[in-house]
Amino acid sequence: MDKENRKKEILDAYHFRHATRQFDPRSSIPEDDFQFILETGRLSPSSNGLEPWKFLVVQNEELRAELREHAYGAYRQLDTASHFVVVLARKGLTYGSPYVIKQLTEVKGIPRDVFDGMADPWKMFFEDFQLQEEKAIFDWAAKQTYIAMGNMMTAAAMIGIDSCPIEGFAPAEIDRILDRHGLLGGGEFGVSAMIAFGYRAIEPRAKTRQTIDQVTRWIR
Ligand SMILES: Cc1cc2nc3c(=O)[nH]c(=O)nc-3n(C[C@H](O)[C@H](O)[C@H](O)COP(=O)(O)O)c2cc1C
Repeated sequence: MDKENRKKEILDAYHFRHATRQFDPRSSIPEDDFQFILETGRLSPSSNGLEPWKFLVVQNEELRAELREHAYGAYRQLDTASHFVVVLARKGLTYGSPYVIKQLTEVKGIPRDVFDGMADPWKMFFEDFQLQEEKAIFDWAAKQTYIAMGNMMTAAAMIGIDSCPIEGFAPAEIDRILDRHGLLGGGEFGVSAMIAFGYRAIEPRAKTRQTIDQVTRWIR
């Protein structure tokens, strides 16, 4: 496919994607299509390559009903989505934590002496970004998860699958439910956001956006 056609195909997907509130409950996403969507989340970039995420695919109706009680932004999606993902962000991403050591040395393959040399730059970065409090560090991890979410929603749109990003929920309540079901790794994770996937039940209204000039400023 030539570049112009590829650009058109990608932009068509961006126009196709909209925040779908109500899905057709009879339409189910084929398993390999959903694996494809997850794969684009897995391959997403993250600060320092920390991959501070976990994607919980909630297909269990009882759990969906429990989440619904505290997810006011997801009432209709929880009832109708083919696949419903609760996106978790990792807690405690500090330099010496076992996860960070394992992720950078074993998964990313950074040699141990190079990792040891990262201590000072890491400290400086954490100071510059004011990543001292537990909550600030968690929010930093959660920011990374939004990149994966964006990629997953775009990938879905490119194969004709609808989605809705969701942060209309009470995080403390959602964490409590997930923890009770043993889904937070004993406190290693907390909820970041949610995404519903499926097929639209009704056509959306036309897209509304600011113009490119309103959201762009070139400095030459
Ligand atoms: C981080 C985030 C959280 C959102 N939370 C909700 C939500 O809880 N419930 C909902 O129905 N839509 C939610 N939305 C959808 C937005 O309202 C929607 O993306 C926006 O109005 C633009 O419309 P469009 O996506 O259809 O183009 C959320 C979007 C984002 C990016």
